[in-house]
Amino acid sequence: MTADTHLSEAPSVNGKEGIFPPPRTFSSHAHIGNVDEYRRLYRESIESPETFWGRMSAELDWADPWKELLAWELPDARWFLGGKLNASYNCLDRHLMGPRRNKAAIVWEGEPGEVRTLTYQQLHWEVCRWANLLARNGVAAGDRVVIYLPMIPEAAIAMLACARLGAPHSVVFGGFSSKALRDRLVDCGARILITADGGYRRGKIIPLKERVNEALEGVSQIERVLVVRRTGKPVPMQAERDRWIEEEIQEDDAGCKVTPFESEHPLFILYTSGTTGRPKGILHTTAGYLLGCALTTKYLFDIKEEDLFWCTADVGWVTGHSYVVYGPLAIGASVFLYEGAPDFPRPDRFWRMIERHRITILYTAPTAIRAFMRFGEEWVEPRDLSSLRLLGSVGEPINPEAWLWYHEKVGRGRCPIVDTWWQTETGSAMIAPLPGATACKPGSASLPFFGVDPAIVDDQGAPALPGRQGKLVIRRPWPSMLRGIYGDPEGFRKTYWSQIPGVYFTGDGARQDKDGYFWITGRIDDVLNVSGHRIGTAEVESALVSHPKVAEAAVVGEPDPEKGEALVAFVTLRQGEAASESLKDDLRLHVEKQIGSIVRPKEILFASSLPKTRSGKIMRRLLKELVRNGQIEGDTTTLEDPSTIAALAKEVGQPT
Ligand code: WT7
Repeated sequence: MTADTHLSEAPSVNGKEGIFPPPRTFSSHAHIGNVDEYRRLYRESIESPETFWGRMSAELDWADPWKELLAWELPDARWFLGGKLNASYNCLDRHLMGPRRNKAAIVWEGEPGEVRTLTYQQLHWEVCRWANLLARNGVAAGDRVVIYLPMIPEAAIAMLACARLGAPHSVVFGGFSSKALRDRLVDCGARILITADGGYRRGKIIPLKERVNEALEGVSQIERVLVVRRTGKPVPMQAERDRWIEEEIQEDDAGCKVTPFESEHPLFILYTSGTTGRPKGILHTTAGYLLGCALTTKYLFDIKEEDLFWCTADVGWVTGHSYVVYGPLAIGASVFLYEGAPDFPRPDRFWRMIERHRITILYTAPTAIRAFMRFGEEWVEPRDLSSLRLLGSVGEPINPEAWLWYHEKVGRGRCPIVDTWWQTETGSAMIAPLPGATACKPGSASLPFFGVDPAIVDDQGAPALPGRQGKLVIRRPWPSMLRGIYGDPEGFRKTYWSQIPGVYFTGDGARQDKDGYFWITGRIDDVLNVSGHRIGTAEVESALVSHPKVAEAAVVGEPDPEKGEALVAFVTLRQGEAASESLKDDLRLHVEKQIGSIVRPKEILFASSLPKTRSGKIMRRLLKELVRNGQIEGDTTTLEDPSTIAALAKEVGQPT
């Protein structure tokens, strides 16, 4: 074993040495147990990609082997050309031939407390029945299917049934509003929607079916709504359009032939926020995506047959796609799924579930860890967490205090922490430690995964000086990268491939230390990260200006100890409208209705005018400064009317 004794730079945290080498006992059993082996494989993945991927692609089962590794013409990458495979076959059928057949694929706990386990054989049976049901409803390869479900096993079943038919799914997070659901299903042109009569969250029922009905008002494109019975509560059904799945599905539907699809066959579209007012449909295809998920799940989480892996993300986010469904199931692992809120009925719900199911790997977000810190360690300490052997973090930079708390209180000082940096667009984790090989530095996602070639550059695209802050780019294509924005090839090129010519621009700022470790500092575009959720300021602004009383809006982020960032909205009102506390509440509700409850401006500030450039662009930079420092010292020479700033500072300082 090679100890990383040469590592030089790591700030000490709470007076402790900021470098955590992999525990010897962990390394000796890990898939990759020392840093030299990581470096050797990494070098091979960059210098001899044909050899590297030739070997690694055997992690999947191919109906036809691929012939050409990569066809790359910026911005279009096609991987594993000539190959054919089926994602659902890879996640299910191939595990039925050996000892995994009766192994748990999914262990699920509902919020009210019921537990369900599906073995690989049982999951396969369900997916086949669902695929047949979808086919009977006219779903064929290439058709888009929207999935709007709570965190119940049926969410994974629905995704895999779509994959089996080659019908790209578009999962919409159950916390999104009917308006957000409508925008997404219209954009992707789905004819079929899968939902439920509700799901449980904090003891209440989320009215999914009611929201679906609202979303479909005046929308005729959806021909069939298939409804899972989860709560048993009566919901409005529309006779021609809506069907209960339990009534439609057939017992003797068990078999469902698998059709292999080409490597680049679309697997799913997932909407995410960008710098425009509309979410973008990120498109992922089959082989490269699945391989990226399978390999990162295996190596970053060091998964073994007997592990029970819990990624706490909802399947409505990419983390749920890659690390609840596709990655773990592709490698035949057991995953844990939980439906509800982390603090229901009490703040120890997570720890009780880990204790009860003997979960071995926990992958969650810094914002959740900070919430647990706030609840207090008295909820964690009494629980038996000895089953845990590895922890993961994702969604935003983890602050060293939260890292240490996670390490000590949850991991009891024994478990390595894998901080994984990636994005909806990257498909799978890109920068992260290998837990048996890489020494961790709290707050750094550390080193790139195989085949990933990140760099820090300045605005012109030149390499940033060592240690200097710059823009994070990826210099060559990787298998699980997005293949486009659905219906918007120009936007795809412009957003990701033109800002810094020739490379993929992530939208993140970062620096690299002397040891080559990456320290991500967060978004440098107009995208915020609130509780690990990605929120486009432009989307919130367009929601605000759709309110009849609002003239203009500008949204900026303010650092928040628990959420990472919180939304602050500057609003000017239409002529004759008066600012009031009740209007603030009204606007908050309005935004929630337009987008979803994850988007709730923390503060709404009424202003008589907003600072603009002479060309009429709102200067968010100044607003950000005002929010953070209470004053503006930055360059205001390009302001159209400098007096707005003084007025604004005064207005902001005075509560309305
Ligand atoms: C943005 C992507 C796919 C992960 C879930 C969020 C931020 C994500 C980290 C991390 C620092 C991180 C970045 C990125 N981010 N993980 N470990 N350290 N920042 O996916 O919604 O597409 O958001 O989340 O800013 O660009 P997403």
